[in-house]
Parts: sequence; C-alpha cells; structure tokens
Amino acid sequence: MQVFKQRTNTCGELRLNDIGKTVTLNGWVDSPRDLGGVVFIFIRDLFGKTQVVINELSGEENLKIAKKLRQEFVVSISGKVVKRIEQNINKEFKTGEIDVLVESINILNESETPPFLNSEINQVSEELRLKYRYLDLRNPLLQKNIILRHKVYQIVRNYFSENGFYEIETPILTKSTPEGARDYLVPSRVQPGKFYALPQSPQIYKQLSMISGFDKYFQIAKCFRDEDLRADRQPEFTQIDVEISFPTEEIVQTYAEQMIQKIFAETQNVKIKTPFARIAYKDAIEKFGSDKPDLRFNLEIINITKTSLNSGFELFDKTIDNKGQIAGIVIPDASNFSRKKVDELTEFAKQNGATGLVFLKFNENKFEGGASKYFTDDFKLKLESTSKIKNGEALAVVAGNSPQIFYTLGAIRIELAKILNLISEKENSLVWITDFPLFEYSTEDKRYYSAHHPFTSPNAEDENLLDTAPEKVRARAYDLVLNGNEIGGGSIRIHNTKLQSKIFKLLGMTEGEAKSKFGFLLDALKYGAPPHGGIAFGFDRIVMLLAGANSIRDVIAFPKTRSAIASMEDAPSFVTEEQLRELHLRSK
Ligand code: AMO
Repeated sequence: MQVFKQRTNTCGELRLNDIGKTVTLNGWVDSPRDLGGVVFIFIRDLFGKTQVVINELSGEENLKIAKKLRQEFVVSISGKVVKRIEQNINKEFKTGEIDVLVESINILNESETPPFLNSEINQVSEELRLKYRYLDLRNPLLQKNIILRHKVYQIVRNYFSENGFYEIETPILTKSTPEGARDYLVPSRVQPGKFYALPQSPQIYKQLSMISGFDKYFQIAKCFRDEDLRADRQPEFTQIDVEISFPTEEIVQTYAEQMIQKIFAETQNVKIKTPFARIAYKDAIEKFGSDKPDLRFNLEIINITKTSLNSGFELFDKTIDNKGQIAGIVIPDASNFSRKKVDELTEFAKQNGATGLVFLKFNENKFEGGASKYFTDDFKLKLESTSKIKNGEALAVVAGNSPQIFYTLGAIRIELAKILNLISEKENSLVWITDFPLFEYSTEDKRYYSAHHPFTSPNAEDENLLDTAPEKVRARAYDLVLNGNEIGGGSIRIHNTKLQSKIFKLLGMTEGEAKSKFGFLLDALKYGAPPHGGIAFGFDRIVMLLAGANSIRDVIAFPKTRSAIASMEDAPSFVTEEQLRELHLRSK
C-alpha cells in the first residue's frame, strides 16, 4: 500500500489567516514552471488550486523531485503557508494571496502527456474531448455543471417528497412506449425472436401507478429515444417524471411552477414570479411563429392578410387568391439595415421556408422603396395603421401558406432579436403553451398522429368533433417553455377504456393491434382508473439553461456524440458471432 499524508486542506481553501500553518495538499499538478533554482506549481483539485513553491529552502531532494513533475501528475505536498509578496497577489482566484512553501513532495502517480489540457478544451474538437471525457471533466467549468446537476437532483427529490409524491422506479427492459421516436430494442435470449424496448418515457407505468392508487408519483428517469440528435437532444436523457391522481391542469401546473421556482431560488438565487403566462398553441404560432416562443423580447407577428386586400401588389393578391396569408414583424430600429443586411435576412427567410421577403422601410411618414412602389395609397395608409409602424422602423413581410409563413417569421423573429441585441441574458421567460391540437395529420402517410402521445385526453368540449373533424380537437396538453426552450410537457390523461380505444382507432390501429401493443393499459383502465394527469421535464435541458451551457452534452457526465456514439467506450460496437447466436440473431 502506498503511504501518503492525508490532506489537511483542499486546494481551494487556504487564505491569509492560514499563514504560518503547516499543511498537506493532495491533488494534480497544474501548469508547473521551472525557473531553475525555484519551481512554481499549481496543485489542483475539485475545490480550486493553490500555488506551491519549491526552492532551496525546500531542500535539494525536493527540488530534484519538483523538476520531474509534469502536468497531471498526482502529488501529495506538505509545507508552510506563506504570504505572497504584494506584486504577486492575484485576487482572481480564492487562494491568490498565499503560497505554500514546500517541505516534502510525494509523487502518488505519474501521467503521460495528456492529449489536451483542461485549460485547452475550447481549442480541441469535441470528438477528442469526448474520447477522453475523464480528462475533459477535469475542467472546473464542466465540474461546476455536474455539481449543479447534482444540486438540482436533490432540490427536485426534496421538493416532490415533501409534497407527498412517491418516487417509484419503472422498468428499463420493457415494451415500446409511443413518444414519437424510434425504439431502442434489446433482443431476448430466453424468448427467441422477441425483443424488449427501452422506454422512451415511463408514461404508461406512471399511469398504472395512479391506477394502483399511489396518488402522486415522481421519478428522475432515464429515457431512450432513437431520433436525430441536436444540441438539446441525446439518445438517452433524463426526465423529471410526474403523475397526479384527481388533478386539473391547474394543479399539475402549480406543482411544476413551484418546482421551477425552488430550483431557481436555490441554484441561481433568482426569484421567479408565478403563475407563469399561458398562451394557447394557436396564438403562440400566429403571434410568435413557434410553439416554444422566447418571450424575453416582443417582436410580435402581425397578420396583415385582411389589410392586404386590394393592395395593388401582385404577390399579395395572388397569395390571397390562393387562400394563403400575409404577415410581418415591425423592426424597431431599422437604421442599420443596409442593402446587404436586407439581402442576408431575405436569404435567411428562404432557408426557413419562405419564397421571399418583402422589406419595407418607413421614414418621413411613408413606406420606402422595394415593393411599396406598387402599393395603392389606400393600402399604404391601412398598412401603416395595422402595423402601427413609426419613422425609423421597418416591416419584414412574408406571404405564403399558413402555418409555414408563421414558422418562417418565428425564425426571423429570433434572428432579429439576435441582430438587434434584444435578449437580456439576465431575464427569464416562462410560459405554458396550452390547447395543443390532439392530432397532427400527415399528408404523406394520409393518417393522424398524436401531437403528444395517444393517452392524452381530448378537451371535453371538442369530443364531439372526434368523429367529424379530428384535426380540430384540442388536447388537454401543455408544454412548459423557458427562454424559447421546451423544458417540459404533459397532459390530463384518458382514464376511460372506450375513449382510449377510440383514439387508438383514430390513429389507424386495428382492435387487434391496439390490444397487442397496449392491451395491458386498456385492461387496467377497466378496473376503476382514477382521473389522472402529469408532466415530464427535460432534466438535462433545465440544467443546461441554468448552467448557461450551449449543449446538453455539457451537463451530462458521459454523453453521446451527435452520431449517438460513445467514443470513449467505443459503443455501439460489434459483438461476437457466439453472442449473436445466443440471441438468435444473425448480422447481415
Ligand atoms: P415529452 O416527449 O414532451 O413528454 O418529453 C418531456 C421533456 O423531455 C425533454 N426531452 C428530451 N431531452 C433531451 N433529449 C431528448 N431526446 C429529449 N426528448 C424530450 C424535453 C421534453 O419537454 N411522457 C411524456 C410526458 C407526459 O405526458 O407526462 C413525455 O415524455 O424537455
């Protein structure tokens, strides 16, 4: 067994009032500097770093050892805390007023030259970082994120536990749960030809636990979805999953609001006001061009379809004839919008689904240039009054099919906020999006899909439309949006077998298919299922936003790459023929 002195302090702890003490620090060598007769080293651990000095006072033997030290060696050093001379004081870090004058050094482990230093992570590819994630994670910023994540776990657990929720684990080897992604499948050895699916969410189990009478459930649950990855999506990710018996939307949302409030108070020292704003899905699309609008800035979309009747402008006439819509956004300060900038914004609009962009500056009480030369005088007046445009502003207009033009304007809205610097990072906008449609119709597959999942209850007022106009049925579903990011989604569920069967049928499932996929749920609903509903939050996304990170990969200790690869462990990987045979599989 290697004997070494236990630390008396962490590397982030020593201050002026420790001067004169003999201390021992254990940690990693950080940026050693050999100046001949004296060696300076930072010793680093999770808690910070402390400069230690080895000079002739430390003795020849220690100086010899010090000269051997390289970045990332693990050492135990002992010595005396001394005050730095005035010009060397560095108040940027917590231990910057002292040094430790070394009396003994013990090398606990050596390190090969690492592929990158933790101070260099901005200069190396993410691929390399993820391959050596254990080195990447030595970066104090990433360590801070992971510790923040830990704190959020504890806050969430305490919050729900204190409010009468029980944490119930649900299976990982299970049957497909429909959340709209592809399943990860696990072949069964003992049941030839059969597969488990990894859960896309614990949805059905949490509903079953309400049917079992557990009243209120929560779980910090791993979910698995085989879908295209983005900065805010991972193939395996974590949800804060919640379900409540006998709820209303209001009850679920209030628990959610208090949880968010607590997380912000305890991690950011920020007071979040409740209740959060609520916007119906249709309004969110038509006013902000998104079902996850960022409301830290205005730039509301203005529908000018009606105003544009008899505009004199062919594009608008044609759009109206084709039952399209015309809408725009007023740009508050357009003085900097040069020809080049307008071209760039037009290109941006095209990349986001528009055929073009009509850009109208307004100066000296009139629209200027471009399309405005075709406008009738009457239309110009009407447009000025509908848009409430003022001198120095401009109107960016998109004409085309709805809802596409709104999505385009939604993207333009965010782009403009960036260009005009309208987003205050200190502010937080939390908003519930409600009244989602129950179904989405796919013209490609000529069938309906659930907008959330098939267990979502239709709005009682719209139930009669299920037979005649399913696309018009509103769902009792809600999403929670933080600064333009969807951080949660849930609904009041169907608790009645007949209605659940009907929804499966509308989704194109035969009775046999519904039975084979969800028979257990349909059965359970027959035996006194209470009204129930809930929500799930994207845990990684919440932590990402709290940390101010750009990707959820920065708040997950061991994430996958964009191509769903674990490059450090090299997974997925090939397996032996023998393993495949045991699983009754053959590779092509
Ligand atoms: P939903 O599918 O909306 O709802 O998921 C809930 C929240 O989980 C987060 N999320 C993700 N985070 C990272 N990577 C992903 N691939 C990913 N997919 C989703 C989002 C999202 O808002 N069972 C329902 C919830 C319910 O009805 O109670 C569900 O899973 O932040």
